[in-house]
Formats: sequence, C-alpha cells, structure tokens
Amino acid sequence: MKTIIEPFKIKAVEPIRMTTPEERVAILEAAGYNPFAIRAEDVLIDYLTDSGTSSMSSEQWAAIMRGDESYAGSRSFFRFEQEVARITGFSNIIPVHQGRAAEKILFDVLHQDEPGIYLGNTHFDTTRANIEYVGDEALDIVIPEGLVPSLAHPFKGNIDLERLKSLLTEHGEKVRGVIITVTNNSGGGQPVSMANIREAARLAHDHGTILVIDSARFAENAYFIKLREDGYGDTPLLEIAQEMFSYADASTMSAKKDGLANIGGWLACNDDFLAGNARNLLILTEGFPTYGGLAGRDLDAIAQGLREVLQEDYLQYRLRSTAYFAEKIVEAGVPIIQPPGGHAVYIDAGAFLEHIPPEEFPGQVLANEIYLHGGLRGVEIGSVMFGKTDPATGKMIPAPLELVRLAIPRRVYTQSHVDYSAEVINEVFAKRHTLKGLKMTYAAPFLRHFTARFEPLV
Ligand code: F0G
Repeated sequence: MKTIIEPFKIKAVEPIRMTTPEERVAILEAAGYNPFAIRAEDVLIDYLTDSGTSSMSSEQWAAIMRGDESYAGSRSFFRFEQEVARITGFSNIIPVHQGRAAEKILFDVLHQDEPGIYLGNTHFDTTRANIEYVGDEALDIVIPEGLVPSLAHPFKGNIDLERLKSLLTEHGEKVRGVIITVTNNSGGGQPVSMANIREAARLAHDHGTILVIDSARFAENAYFIKLREDGYGDTPLLEIAQEMFSYADASTMSAKKDGLANIGGWLACNDDFLAGNARNLLILTEGFPTYGGLAGRDLDAIAQGLREVLQEDYLQYRLRSTAYFAEKIVEAGVPIIQPPGGHAVYIDAGAFLEHIPPEEFPGQVLANEIYLHGGLRGVEIGSVMFGKTDPATGKMIPAPLELVRLAIPRRVYTQSHVDYSAEVINEVFAKRHTLKGLKMTYAAPFLRHFTARFEPLV
C-alpha cells in the first residue's frame, strides 16, 4: 500500500471552534495584530508550536495513573531514568521541568571566570540566551546551504566542519563546548547527519572540549538519517539514536517535543563531577534530583513517550505528514524552506509578500492573514523576532530571513486538518498582492515578538 495513515485511532476528542471572519477581524485587532495575544479558544488549528502540544497515548494516560509522587527515590524516576539511559546511554540522568532548565544548569556549571565560546550548528534562542546570560558567547556555524531557503540538501542542519576546525584553533581554550541541535529548529527543522555528528565530536574531543546534543527532536533526526544517509536504511531507529548519543558527552532535552509529553526534560552526561555540580544547582532551582521540577506522573508520561517515539510507523507518519503539508502548498507556488523539516513547514514570507519591505514585517502580515482567512495560527520568525534598531540611524536592521513557521503538534491533527490548512494558505497566496504592511506601535526591550503590538498600514 502506498498510503501512509495516522497510526492511531482517536479515543478522546477535544472540540475546536470556528469563528466567523467578522469575529476574527475584531479578535486580531484586540490582539494588537499579534497572534501570540489571541486566546487559544479563538484559534481553529494551532501551529504556534510543536512544544508541549502533543496528544498523549492511552498508555501514557495509564502511566499518569501509575505516577509515584514520593519526594525522594520515586518509582517514576527510575522508570524515567531507565528509558533515557536505554536511548542515550548516559550514566547520569537529571530530570528538569523543560529544556531551558537543563540549559540554564549546564551553562552555569560550565562557566568559568574567563568568558568562553560555544560553537553550534544553530543555537536555539533559549540555548543562546542561557549562554549569553552567564557571559559566554554562542557562534552559529551551520553549513552555507543551511542559510539558503530554496536550496535542497539532505542534511541542511549540519555544522560546518571546516569552520569548526578553524574556530577551535582560533579560540583555543576559550571554547567550552560544541553544541549540535537535532533537528536544527532555528534553521528550519533540518536534520544533521550521523557522519557530521561523528566528525564534530572527533574535532571537539581532539581539541579537548565536549560535544553536547540539544536533543529536543532526536527521534525525527534519527528517522531522517535512516531515510537519507548511506548505510542506515536497515538499521533499527533505536540503534541510530543510540549511535547519535554515543558521540556526545552530554544531552539537553525538551521532552515537550520528542518525549511526546506536555512538560519535562533532562540533562544527561557521563562525567560524574559535572553531574554532581549540576545536581547541586538543580536542588536550588528545580527540586530534588529524582524529580527535578516534575511530578512523578510527568516522569512516567515521558518514560512511556520514549517507548513510543522511536516506533517506525509513528515517525513515518510524522515526517510524511509534514512533507504532505509542504507539498500541498508548494504545488500552488508558495515559497518555503526546502526540503521541509521534521516538525514544521517554514514559509518564506519575504518571497511570498515580495511587495512588503522588512520594515513593514511581511512575516507578521502573513501570520495575521492566515488567521483572518481561516483561523490558523503560526509564528513569525523574521524581523519582528530578530530585527534590531541601528543606534546610529534609528532604522531597523532586518533579520536575515522573513519566515512564518507552522509547527505541527504530534498526533493531534488529521489529514483533513492539513488539507484545510493548505487550502487557507493557497487562497491567501492567490490574493497576496492585496495585502498591506504593518507598523509596530509597541515593542518590549527584549523578546519583543511575544508582546509587540501593530497597526495596519493603509
Ligand atoms: N532546544 C530546542 C531545539 C528547542 O526547539 C527548544 C524549544 C528548546 C531547546 C527549549 O526547550 O521550551 O522545553 O524550554 N522550542 C520551542 C519551539 C519553544 O516552539 O520551538 P523548552
């Protein structure tokens, strides 16, 4: 059979509600033309993020009931630890309430008196922010292909090994670690090849530094390796994931993605000294080392999620449904980051709305229009999020790309939701020339995209 189906049936449903176009005009205006300020109940299909938005399986709900809420040494912790160890092979597994808590602890513990440097394919925003918060620096060195939206490459998330080599030499002991984010979220959810991870680890280790895997979407990355990398076509997904982690010295994880859970994460490593320092900080900020900011039931939900996420029929459905969404809009001429990534479709809003300059925020215009037209919510990743003001001229320095990300929650929507969404986007594409830009009327001093407000330009 050629048709790939959702490998689940639906046991509980959560109604979603369509609004009228008139209602949406009023809702968006009240939200200051920023979809972040729209109530979830006023959104029909929510592609804001794939983080913490997964549907849990019946086995995960059963695991929730098994959760052991003992403060210390809970049985849930040992089930969690066993599953994380099975996949990652690390001897120290420290639970945290979400990915950024692992980052906060790791970069705090690795910080030294002299400012240091981290080299990564593309640091996710919270990773970069936690590195910069302690006074260190994060440099993104993805391969050049990773920066060209229309260019297809099987592993567009790879780190540039030549640049890695020369930066390691240039910065010497200042380099505190190499960070490989799988898949590369900020670069379009693009995978990293096994060969690239292996070689990056070799360079890091030869240099005397560590390799950290930001593992949020490790299972999706493993499936891309199986599909695209020579020699892995017949390798079980668990073995691929195990090999990925075998090259690393530590893993930070947001279990809100490939943990198939609504909350949680971990920091894992082999170095007992590092782990000891991390646990001390964990007690200060998250909780006792056997729960780390989570309820016992959350640890059990993650443990069960990890048993499900490397199942081939799940990952085949997952990557195929993202690709299917992309194909439906590409057919109509919509420009996207090629090839589509694992968890999201990234529309190139700069090319979609060529007539709207970066100063008028084409990504935000597009995110708003897909809400007005069909009740979809995506997120602008462009000059609203990353634009800076030039202190000399007061003018905006635009972001390198103007994108709208449609991140697909795991096991939540069906094919007809995707068909509908593609239709909305394609109808907006057909009337793109009628759309006008926006003026930003309020911006917070940092992370302004969450609370910015806008007015339409007429
Ligand atoms: N690393 C990556 C690659 C991520 O995508 C995220 C979160 C984090 C770390 C932080 O994890 O949210 O559990 O603290 N990404 C979400 C997103 C927010 O929408 O892409 P967290």
